[in-house]
Amino acid sequence: MKLHKQSSMTQRRDEETLSGQNSPYLSKTPKHPRSLPRSINYLFKEQRLLFILVGILIGSTFFILQPILSRLGPPQELHPFHALTANQQRQSFQFHRTSSFGAKTGRVPVGIGRRRLRIVVTGGAGFVGSHLVDKLIDRGDEVIVIDNFFTGRKDNLVHHFRNPRFELIRHDVVEPILLEVDQIYHLACPASPVHYKYNPVKTIKTNVMGTLNMLGLAKRVGAKFLLTSTSEVYGDPLEHPQKETYWGNVNPIGERSCYDEGKRTAETLTMDYHRGAGVEVRIARIFNTYGPRMCLDDGRVVSNFVAQAIRRQPMTVYGDGKQTRSFQYVSDLVH
Ligand SMILES: NC(=O)c1ccc[n+]([C@@H]2O[C@H](COP(=O)([O-])OP(=O)(O)OC[C@H]3O[C@@H](n4cnc5c(N)ncnc54)[C@H](O)[C@@H]3O)[C@@H](O)[C@H]2O)c1
Repeated sequence: MKLHKQSSMTQRRDEETLSGQNSPYLSKTPKHPRSLPRSINYLFKEQRLLFILVGILIGSTFFILQPILSRLGPPQELHPFHALTANQQRQSFQFHRTSSFGAKTGRVPVGIGRRRLRIVVTGGAGFVGSHLVDKLIDRGDEVIVIDNFFTGRKDNLVHHFRNPRFELIRHDVVEPILLEVDQIYHLACPASPVHYKYNPVKTIKTNVMGTLNMLGLAKRVGAKFLLTSTSEVYGDPLEHPQKETYWGNVNPIGERSCYDEGKRTAETLTMDYHRGAGVEVRIARIFNTYGPRMCLDDGRVVSNFVAQAIRRQPMTVYGDGKQTRSFQYVSDLVH
């Protein structure tokens, strides 16, 4: 019985095979090379090939044009420092711009929007630096802070510690460092007389060697560079208000020279790297800035007044009280 059944099934299969040679419905022979024309047929049917080609064309056009369009977009400005125009008093700070230099090499773009920048802020744990870091993180960039915590505090940055776009490196800018970055904001330097006079040799080293190291880094990785200079570069000015073209009246051997002359040298180095090595640079000559996170006892005018007011002490005015200063709130400097 079994034998019979088997042989009849075999016979039926043979019959199917034989009769199937002429049948248009013979379809289940997938591994046979005869299937090739069928797939080509499939492609040509209902204009499928045309749709595929159009898709490939659109895709490749997008990938070819995207980097070109992103380069044509608005220039990457070092803009969180806002240049204020001269007012009735003096300029709050002055912002030297220089022409752009050669093309910038970029990393692979992430997404279609503005390319995220990687930015170093030296002195980012300090008063101005920490506000700048807030701004850069807010606008979506990656920030690496370099600070030796001489006057800066981790407290000023603690709100960024869990942010993957934020890094903090304890480092002294007097020593070289190598990082791959697009922009460098170089703020590292004690800014108040109490602090910069504390170790004058260290202050001028920070200004000269620190600035050299950061400019060297900018040149090496093709990053833009911003130096925070100071109104102190005018020394004891003979012109009021000071224009950027004014060269100042500076004592090179006084107690403040480590700061004043240090910043002047830093400016010189900045311009020499621009002219000699094509580094794109900015110099911001900042005037007296005040606001949250400034050290209360750093001997600066506003912090002195505030500290004395909080302690209910009489407020000290030095000299004959006729001297003038320009003040700005920190959000007018960094915005
Ligand atoms: N705040 C102002 O009114 C004012 C005015 C003119 C210029 N500036 C300039 O702005 C910048 C910032 O000033 P600020 O008021 O925030 O001062 P700040 O003292 O609060 O900040 C300076 C930061 O630099 C760090 N630092 C100092 N030496 C360093 C070194 N060798 N290596 C690494 N980090 C170092 C400090 O720890 C601190 O975090 C300074 O360059 C200063 O000269 C400020």
